[in-house]
Amino acid sequence: MKHHSSKVRWLFLLFLMFDLTNQLAYSADLNAGKLKANMACSLCHGANGIAKIPNAPSLAGQNAQYLQEQLKAFRSKSRQNEVMSVIAAPLTDQEIENISLWYSAMKVEVTLPN
Ligand code: HEC
Repeated sequence: MKHHSSKVRWLFLLFLMFDLTNQLAYSADLNAGKLKANMACSLCHGANGIAKIPNAPSLAGQNAQYLQEQLKAFRSKSRQNEVMSVIAAPLTDQEIENISLWYSAMKVEVTLPN
């Protein structure tokens, strides 16, 4: 019984370590996302994520996974747009995660039309 429980403890420790390294590898940084978005994106997409120009979409409250997928698609040019491909080209995966977290964390209230 004693032997068994120490095995369980080891497994638990291993699991914790794995979980921690996972979090380190994948944790997006909200503040870094904010800084980058304010510098590189807000001119068109708005500091509050509501678009400033008529042909740009609002990003506030958008799903982080969707944002990441679109930014990677612009970067690889599998989604083609003259402006966004140029803007997405230098972004690292980490920057894309950070920016996506920033916009997705914005809370948007929706009022349906009557
Ligand atoms: C000069 C204006 C401009 C800037 C600056 C800009 N964008 Fe865009 N963005 C656009 C336009 C225009 C589109 C619409 C592209 C299309 O029609 O496919 C777009 C589309 C997008 C989309 C797709 C959204 C959707 O609903 O599919 C994302 C995501 C996005 N931009 C993120 C960013 C991020 C992140 C930055 C900063 C790193 C940024 N943009 C900077 C103009 C801009």
